[in-house]
Amino acid sequence: MNLEAGQVAVVTGAASGLGRALAESFAARGLVGVLADVEAGPLAETVAAIEATGATAIGVPTDVRFADQVDALAATTLKRFGRVDIVVNNAGIMPGMGPMWIFEENDWEWVLSVNLRGVVHGIRAFVPHLVAQGKGHVVNTASMAGVSVAPGLGPYMVTKHGVVALSEGLAADLALAGVDVGVTVVCPGGMATNITTAERNRPVDLPVSPREWDPKSVEWLIEWMSTVSGPDMAPEDAAAIVVQAIENDILHVAPNGLRSGLQQRLESLLSDLGRSYCP
Ligand SMILES: NC(=O)c1ccc[n+]([C@@H]2O[C@H](COP(=O)([O-])OP(=O)(O)OC[C@H]3O[C@@H](n4cnc5c(N)ncnc54)[C@H](O)[C@@H]3O)[C@@H](O)[C@H]2O)c1
Repeated sequence: MNLEAGQVAVVTGAASGLGRALAESFAARGLVGVLADVEAGPLAETVAAIEATGATAIGVPTDVRFADQVDALAATTLKRFGRVDIVVNNAGIMPGMGPMWIFEENDWEWVLSVNLRGVVHGIRAFVPHLVAQGKGHVVNTASMAGVSVAPGLGPYMVTKHGVVALSEGLAADLALAGVDVGVTVVCPGGMATNITTAERNRPVDLPVSPREWDPKSVEWLIEWMSTVSGPDMAPEDAAAIVVQAIENDILHVAPNGLRSGLQQRLESLLSDLGRSYCP
């Protein structure tokens, strides 16, 4: 889809990192921004910075865990601007690192509700409007942890695989519906953002016991990262790659992603399946 001045782009997780960089890229192209985030202060600061460039943006404090808040985000967008062209379901968190079994129920609840159900809410609230318009674009942020398997990333990895499957299924559904609505699922490698302090946003109603993260997990993660990612990329550079993917209607995009971890996973999957049920 071509980006044009006056189009309306909604971005969740827009107050920091990749979301903010995308909101700024859209603004620089003359798009109107509807910026959503759970952190009201940084959200207001981001909106002010974009408005200072002469672009139009509004901030809508939103917790993507809650369907009614994402519905309200869609209602505000349509009431205020009468259209929506691009929806970026990007808000995400990571609840620490360690072997799968040490994550508590509240870790699972938090990460599933933000990283996976947050995207589902965005699809349900916005895609019917895009379909009715007959055109638009949906961007969902996953991770290289959504296409390869990382030790130590437990529930985060599970949610990102879910976002990749959801995006591929959505693209297939939209193609069947015969509408010109594109989908891009973003699978970044490492980016220099505030994801490492995601605990700042842990909801008070989802506490966990005090705990030490297993230092081995950090070693595992570094080793896995070297197979799926280059050195940390600036979010602005990742955003430029995502904008290109929207304009060229590319389904999978991997800013800073490396091939070898993915290849290892696919080879092992094909080899195991080939030995059992898929000769
Ligand atoms: N940084 C990386 O290395 C990396 C790699 C792969 C994928 N990602 C993904 O990129 C996306 C953006 O993360 P980032 O790296 O820019 O991190 P970030 O922490 O800088 O930005 C994430 C934003 O999401 C917001 N957010 C968190 N919970 C929310 C909620 N419940 N409702 C609404 N907003 C909420 C935060 O306030 C923050 O502004 C995430 O989905 C993340 O999983 C990041």
